[in-house]
Amino acid sequence: MSISPHIKIEGTSKFQIGEIINNTVHYDFKKIKTYLNIKGHLLFGKNFKIYKEDEPLIFKLCCYYIQDHYSCAQMGIDTNKGILLTGPVGCGKTSLMKLLLHLAPHKTSYEIIPTRNIVFSFNASGFETLEQYNQSKNFCFDDLGVEPTGSHYGKDLNVMGEILLSRYDLFTRHPELVSGSHQNQFKIKTHITTNLNAEELEKRYGNRVRSRMRAMFNLISFNSNSKDKRM
Ligand SMILES: Nc1ncnc2c1ncn2[C@@H]1O[C@H](COP(=O)(O)OP(=O)(O)OP(=O)(O)O)[C@@H](O)[C@H]1O
Ligand SMILES: [Mg+2]
Repeated sequence: MSISPHIKIEGTSKFQIGEIINNTVHYDFKKIKTYLNIKGHLLFGKNFKIYKEDEPLIFKLCCYYIQDHYSCAQMGIDTNKGILLTGPVGCGKTSLMKLLLHLAPHKTSYEIIPTRNIVFSFNASGFETLEQYNQSKNFCFDDLGVEPTGSHYGKDLNVMGEILLSRYDLFTRHPELVSGSHQNQFKIKTHITTNLNAEELEKRYGNRVRSRMRAMFNLISFNSNSKDKRM
């Protein structure tokens, strides 16, 4: 872990997003917002900004990313589960999942993979694709629900449904069985972005997956009337 997780360095600039008191970082949301605005500019271009109406949702996500167990508990967020980020098309789900990776990578990190790519990979390579996600690594499956049904040599498969079932098994696995795990981060986490709501997810993946998803994820939703930020 970096010795200064409260100081972010971008080029020649330094951003202090909190203070260290008694060996613990005390984050400051106002400073985090300033940093996210600048990092967002660097990643997504000059039109990026933290929208006022998105702040409550971003605050929740930040508490999760820095693994502030106390604030998360107050907001009904379980820091051991993953994030299921839902919202209408273009509201900024994927961008946020990319941006927030930079906030506290020593606490929350994952690889972002578009679900469509997973299915294309399954169609080409078959079941070895499923194995890639059945490992003790954190993933964010981007845009769940838009992927087509998988088909490998004439065999159809609900690829993401299968992967979510095995991610649940990994999530519930006893920490001591997971090699390389350490104290707070022993849960193998999965995160998701999607346009679908709970009923639509159940329809697409069935009630076995839906039931497991309830156990694996904190549901964090943009307002249904959030604006499309695509230009
Ligand atoms: N806060 C923001 N300020 C300005 N532009 C933004 C912001 N968030 C996202 N965008 C831009 O809006 C577009 C859509 O963002 P993004 O892909 O993150 O949305 P999404 O919710 O994942 O959409 P979809 O549901 O289609 O997957 C992108 O071009 C992105 O750069
Ligand atoms: Mg997206």
